[in-house]
Amino acid sequence: MTSAFEPVRIAGSTLSNRIALAPMTRSRAAEGGIATALVAEYYTQRASAGLIISEGIQPSVVGQGYPFTPGLHSTEQVAAWREVTDSVHAAGGRIFAQLMHSGRIGHPSLLPDGLVPVAPSAVAAQGQLFTGEGMKDFVTPQELTGAEVRATVADYAEAARNAVEAGFDGVELHGANGYLIHQFLAPGTNRRTDEWGGPAENRIRFAVEVVKAVAAAIGAERTALRISPGNTYNDITEPDPQPVYEALVKEIDGLGLAYLHVLEHAPEARATTLALRKQFSGLLVLNPATEGPTDHRALTLIEDGTADVLAFGALFLANPDLPDRLRTEGPYNTPDPTTFFGGDARGYTDYPTR
Ligand SMILES: Cc1cc2nc3c(=O)[nH]c(=O)nc-3n(C[C@H](O)[C@H](O)[C@H](O)COP(=O)(O)O)c2cc1C
Repeated sequence: MTSAFEPVRIAGSTLSNRIALAPMTRSRAAEGGIATALVAEYYTQRASAGLIISEGIQPSVVGQGYPFTPGLHSTEQVAAWREVTDSVHAAGGRIFAQLMHSGRIGHPSLLPDGLVPVAPSAVAAQGQLFTGEGMKDFVTPQELTGAEVRATVADYAEAARNAVEAGFDGVELHGANGYLIHQFLAPGTNRRTDEWGGPAENRIRFAVEVVKAVAAAIGAERTALRISPGNTYNDITEPDPQPVYEALVKEIDGLGLAYLHVLEHAPEARATTLALRKQFSGLLVLNPATEGPTDHRALTLIEDGTADVLAFGALFLANPDLPDRLRTEGPYNTPDPTTFFGGDARGYTDYPTR
């Protein structure tokens, strides 16, 4: 029986345990999408994770969906991330960059030069989002042309090269939670009639091409993908997700990826997780559906072989020494949602260790 406190090899490194910091947007970057010394401190505090997965990082200017999120498309951003990764490595940690293009989940007021959010199709998300100017309705995004889809794939590859130059151990592509890759996968947001839309074999093409382009740029062993089959977050509709994700995994299995990361939005997603687990020959990182934030009760999912690594979000945000606390089944500091996004050190680097 494998325990969560046993090592595992990912991307040519031995991780000290099978506990990952789940990717979490914290919106504390400086002007220009620059990670700061405070960001370095936050991640370094959590270096006892076997693997840190960074917050969503935009691979291009137009990929930014929220205020104060960091990027990996400029020289200054790369230099700033180098300080973060050096600090995490000095503390014995390993860190992947999560590349997140938000697609239609964004707002023109967040973008320079008259840019507007882009997406597979011109379908606006229902609802509102937080911008620097308060809550705003989602806008109708601009449909990407075929040439622009190709250019967007290339942007991910370039950002992945930048991530490696910045010292990240690998890259996780955000294909979950209704952002750009998920928008291509889901029929509600992808109404295209070219090779990027229509039947499942076409809707998975963008995800597959991005994975392949990034793997070609930095090596498959440093490339990972996060998915959330059936998750309706950000106004996604996926009536019958399992066959779509099976088709996707079929295409990317065999490339030799670092891992596949499955986020379960609800307990009923477990059946799909188990099917994909069986199908995928590499490592499975799981962020399981649990009642309340994922805690030590999920560790049995490593022991029974459901997953190889477990990702913890809210509890890791509030407990920098989470692996140690999981070992003793708590106690835990309570996460404060009012400081999740934006602000300063409060609710970011001031959660106490034991
Ligand atoms: C503040 C916050 C920000 C998040 N940002 C991201 C993100 O940037 N990328 C992502 O894939 N998931 C993001 N998530 C989802 C988490 O990775 C995770 O799936 C979710 O919190 C459920 O896990 P938990 O029960 O351990 O908290 C975020 C969650 C929270 C609480």
